[in-house]
Order: sequence, then C-alpha cells, then structure tokens
Amino acid sequence: MNDTDATSDPHLEATRRYYDEFATRYDDARGGRVPGGYHDLIDELELAFLARHGRGKSLLEVGCGTGLLLERMAAFASEAEGVDLSPGMLDKARARGLTVREGSATALPYEDDRFDVSCSFKVLAHIEQIRAALSEMIRVVRPGGLALAEFYNPWSLRALAKRLGPAGAISDRTREDAVHTRFDSPRDVEALLPPGTTIVDSRGVRIVTPAARVLRWPVVGSALIAAERRLCDGPLARFGGFWIAAIQKPG
Ligand SMILES: C[S@@+](CC[C@H](N)C(=O)[O-])C[C@H]1O[C@@H](n2cnc3c(N)ncnc32)[C@H](O)[C@@H]1O
Repeated sequence: MNDTDATSDPHLEATRRYYDEFATRYDDARGGRVPGGYHDLIDELELAFLARHGRGKSLLEVGCGTGLLLERMAAFASEAEGVDLSPGMLDKARARGLTVREGSATALPYEDDRFDVSCSFKVLAHIEQIRAALSEMIRVVRPGGLALAEFYNPWSLRALAKRLGPAGAISDRTREDAVHTRFDSPRDVEALLPPGTTIVDSRGVRIVTPAARVLRWPVVGSALIAAERRLCDGPLARFGGFWIAAIQKPG
C-alpha cells in the first residue's frame, strides 16, 4: 500500500481521518488506566489467544494503532511488526519504540510469506474490502502459517446493544458512526475465507457482558470478568461480540 492509494480511496481516507483524530485520546481508557477495565479485558483475551498461536514466532499486527497490543506481543514473539493506515496512531506506536509502517490492510507493504502469524484486532470491522484484507493477511504468512482475524459479531449482546443505543461520542468533533463499521457472523466469515484456507481455532470475546460500565459494578463486574475468561473458548464463543478466527494458509 502506498499513500496515493489511501488518499484516492474515499473510504480509506475517511477511516484515516477518523483515527488520526482519535489518536490523541485512544489510550486514555486503555492499558490499565480505567478501573473496571473493559478495554483491558478485551485486550487480555485477544493477546492470550495470540500467545497460544504466536509465542516465539514472527508476528505482524495489521491495524496496530498506537501499539498498545503490539508492545505486549513483542514480549512473547521472536519479532513483532505493525502496520496501520493512520499516521496519528503510528506516531504513538513509534513513541513506544515499535517497528511500524504506514499502509492499508488491503495492500500490505510486505513480501509474500514474510511472517509466521498475522493478526488483526478491532480493525477488520472498519474495512469495506474485507476479502482483500483477509487475502493480504494470508499472503504475508508462510505456508502453514496463520492469520488471526477478529470480526464484530452480529450474533452478540454487544451488537444488540449497539443496535438499540446511540452511537458513542468519541470527541467533540467525531462520533463513532462517522467511520464504516461492519458486522460478520461466524457463518458469514466462512464465506469470506481466502481459497484453500481453513479455520483451525476460534475464540469469542465479550460473550455475557451487556455493557462496558457493568464491569465497574461491585461483585457483578468481577463475576462477569471471570465468566468471560471461562467461556471464551467454549460453545458460547460463537456469540462473542468479538469473534476471532485462526485461519490457516495451506502448507
Ligand atoms: C480500534 S483501532 C485498534 C488498534 C489496535 N489493533 C488495538 O487493538 O488497540 C483500529 C485501527 O485500525 C486502523 N485501520 C482501520 N482501517 C485500516 C486499514 N484499511 N488498513 C490499516 N489499518 C486500518 C486504524 O487506523 C486504527 O489504528
């Protein structure tokens, strides 16, 4: 991906503008900064799934944002690199000392078979050309390698709450509904898979938590956190608000 592609695509340009603005406050409620830790719980479950498949391996995070997750991946990977559309988000990642590049998920600036594992968390839901993004995540991993792709799941309490509630204000100037957001169920994902690939593992994140603020309630909050940790790999995983598929490239 180069800058010309991103600026000539109105969808990518709108996403980039949105995240450039969000970059100034993205980390405010994350990284252990807020009691209750809704975002921290999501990040913890995503990273633990990645560690299962990526410990000691070379990793690429697609849509690495400010590098909050990438920094923690680097601690268990042999090598960890990130790519993102938004220069504002990337500035924060570089300030963390991380290796990152500017580019789009739909045209990754890496050669074929470069990494053991690619991953993407809270990103693919913002991409219209999701088939292209998934193909790219598979292209850049070695034969037999994995792409861990996270989707926003319409079969979830989270999606129901979003349908019923107002779009969240991100800042004085930007609202959450200013950026493209798509929902793909586990069944939809089967139809999006690049040819020859298979799903070899999956995890559901935020299965029983009805709203982020509930995690701050005494007793209920800790019970929900314990339940999310227990349920994420069980039969209810298909109803996680975030559903992560480990997609294997043919060997
Ligand atoms: C919600 S943030 C997630 C950041 C990080 N993965 C995390 O979990 O904290 C979404 C990120 O995806 C990036 N993004 C959105 N569309 C993209 C695209 N087409 N290519 C690359 N990055 C993209 C945004 O710039 C933003 O940094």
